[in-house]
Amino acid sequence: MLAEARIPKRYEHCDLESYQPLHATQKTAKKFAERFLDKYPFIDIGLLFLGPCGVGKTHLAVALLKRIITDRGDSCLFYDFRDLLREIQASWNSVARTSELEVLRPVLDAKVLVLDELGANKPTDWVRDTIAHIINCRYNDKKLTLFTSNFLDSAGNRGEETLTDRIGVRLRSRLHEMCRDIEIEGKDFRKEIKNAKVRFDTEIRNFGV
Ligand SMILES: Nc1ncnc2c1ncn2[C@@H]1O[C@H](COP(=O)(O)OP(=O)(O)O)[C@@H](O)[C@H]1O
Ligand SMILES: [Mg+2]
Repeated sequence: MLAEARIPKRYEHCDLESYQPLHATQKTAKKFAERFLDKYPFIDIGLLFLGPCGVGKTHLAVALLKRIITDRGDSCLFYDFRDLLREIQASWNSVARTSELEVLRPVLDAKVLVLDELGANKPTDWVRDTIAHIINCRYNDKKLTLFTSNFLDSAGNRGEETLTDRIGVRLRSRLHEMCRDIEIEGKDFRKEIKNAKVRFDTEIRNFGV
């Protein structure tokens, strides 16, 4: 089941134990994730992890997915939102081996779905309709969805695009209904690790080792 969940190799190592909260919001996010697992499956709304790159949104979403599979044996699926749209579009090609429904079926059926990087694709009408269709079907079937997005609800002081700009008012409001928002702040973990390594290497060099 883990293999069928399409969790990317890069994230296979992710679990709650290895998530180190370096910022207060990360501590809160981890607590919400733990509470989600405690309550599962008696829970009726999903989670929407919001925040900049590298704060561990995907890490937490994957950690939850893995635990639901191993603890409960429920069908789970991970999709990067851009890949999903690409696969749907590819299915329209007349020589495609899969139909749109074949791509969508597991996405609609999975007991728990992670849709990673919501809003990352250019928000054309088609993209909006497609997200709406997936979200509505899953919502009506009372299936849980965990979303992540790099777009926030406020534009910030540089006037960045908001999640509403990317997915539209109606969908954003739907997400409010079906998910608890979890905003995560902090530094890019990948960069931090890299900087720590550079510091370490420099120290080693200075010691003449
Ligand atoms: N707080 C954390 N503790 C441990 N690992 C982290 C943490 N935050 C991020 N990571 C790791 O850093 C990398 C980037 O995190 P990711 O979940 O992809 O961030 P995001 O989805 O927010 O852009 C991943 O390998 C992840 O496992
Ligand atoms: Mg991510």
